[in-house]
Amino acid sequence: MEYRAIDTPRLNWTGDALVIGFFEDAVDLTGDLRQMDERLNGTISELLQETEFKGKEGTSACTRTGVRDGIRKIMLVGMGKPDSLNLDSWRRTAATGATLAKKERCKTLGMSLPVWNDDPEATTQAIVEGIELALYQDNRFKSEPEDKPSKLEQIDLLGLAGQQEAISRGQIICSGVFLARQLVAAPANEVTPITLAQTAQDLAQAYGMDVEILEREDCEKLGMGAFLGVAKASDLPPKFIHLTYKPKGTPRRKLAIVGKGLTFDSGGYNLKVSGSGIEMMKIDMGGAGATLGAAKAIGQLKPDVEVHFISAATENMISGHGMHPGDILKASNGKTIEVNNTDAEGRLTLADALVFADKLGVDAIVDLATLTGACVVALGNDIGGMWSTDDILAQELSKAAEISGEKFWLMPMEEKYFEGMKSVVADMKNTGPRPGGSITAALFLQQFVKDTPWVHLDIAGPVWTDKENGYNGVGATGFPVRTLVNWVMGETD
Ligand code: BES
Ligand code: MN
Ligand code: ZN
Repeated sequence: MEYRAIDTPRLNWTGDALVIGFFEDAVDLTGDLRQMDERLNGTISELLQETEFKGKEGTSACTRTGVRDGIRKIMLVGMGKPDSLNLDSWRRTAATGATLAKKERCKTLGMSLPVWNDDPEATTQAIVEGIELALYQDNRFKSEPEDKPSKLEQIDLLGLAGQQEAISRGQIICSGVFLARQLVAAPANEVTPITLAQTAQDLAQAYGMDVEILEREDCEKLGMGAFLGVAKASDLPPKFIHLTYKPKGTPRRKLAIVGKGLTFDSGGYNLKVSGSGIEMMKIDMGGAGATLGAAKAIGQLKPDVEVHFISAATENMISGHGMHPGDILKASNGKTIEVNNTDAEGRLTLADALVFADKLGVDAIVDLATLTGACVVALGNDIGGMWSTDDILAQELSKAAEISGEKFWLMPMEEKYFEGMKSVVADMKNTGPRPGGSITAALFLQQFVKDTPWVHLDIAGPVWTDKENGYNGVGATGFPVRTLVNWVMGETD
């Protein structure tokens, strides 16, 4: 897609379709729009009347103008009430316009939306993100694509001249989101610990990053008994991925992003029963997928921040050499864990990944994981859970999430609940009682981070959507790549 940020008045713009954004209940044709309507013999006012378009969020109306060499179609899109708008309204409106333009088989599109908060840069980036995310198509596993590919070739962002950099930032971030979507959508016979490690190596090659893949023996030497316990039943080798982006000069900060990388989660001997969604457990590397997606964007954006991208990748399978329920594992910080449920495997892999990250001497660690069904029960499919031991870091992540339009809710680190994780024989069990299951999971992870400020994100709900969900479409969403990138870039105000 070619984007142009230009100041051509919309009256003079020519092309297949012009998208015009309206605030709710402020749909009147004044100024240049009145002029445009007059020129088009009242086509726009007729469209307004016929469709009773009121500018409600998510609504649109479209008509042919009858003009061939001017504006061929007019598309009105609603943005909602001015007092309920946020930056994501621009993403959503642009997505509505682009989706309509795709359906109408347009090649060239003009986009005329107001500027958000006097901030043309943020406006431009949000519009580009909305368009890119909405037009994404993944036909890798279809012999015949179901939906016709978009014909859109060029999109002009009117009134946003000079914002070329914001355009490319939006495109780069979306390239990271797309990588995450592709990794999550691909099934477990395509995305394995081996291919995940290969993806990290490809990223390192493409963007000049350092990469180290620790094999089983390397992990044994580091004492990663928790990670390797999970990996035992798989016929595939575990891969501990450590990808590093280093800026040219002295880094302003050093950060680590740790993603749960279960390329399949059968539950192990605590096998997932039918109805538990076992067939969806390819998404259990959503944390690793978003981590690598963020790496792809960071590798191109090149901030003055050092970032370590980490994932302990394996599968949770069953076999004669798998771990038994009740086995005791020793993590790389020396703590022992009684595995009272082999299906609580993510936290076991993360335990060693967090210890590894902590030893790097970074300023902050963020882990992200499709960790618990309990978090989905608590917050539903659109909102991720956030836990932290550090208020400032939690603030940073919350702000980055807000700008990205990805939703998180701060959850409590209720230390008392750790009592439910006490083991008679080992330092702790890996699961507690059912109530507060996403909280005890976070408290478990906390055992593996010493003093480094740390945030845990449970993304079990939002990584996948079964039904069409705005610019996230359907299927893998790429959540929360944009939040991670904003956070690393320091876009928190
Ligand atoms: N990968 C699952 C969590 C999950 C559930 C992700 C639904 C996406 C959608 C995790 O490994 C798991 O199995 N968690 C168990 C924990 C339980 C055994 C304490 C769960 O949530 O049931
Ligand atoms: Mn599990
Ligand atoms: Zn899992």
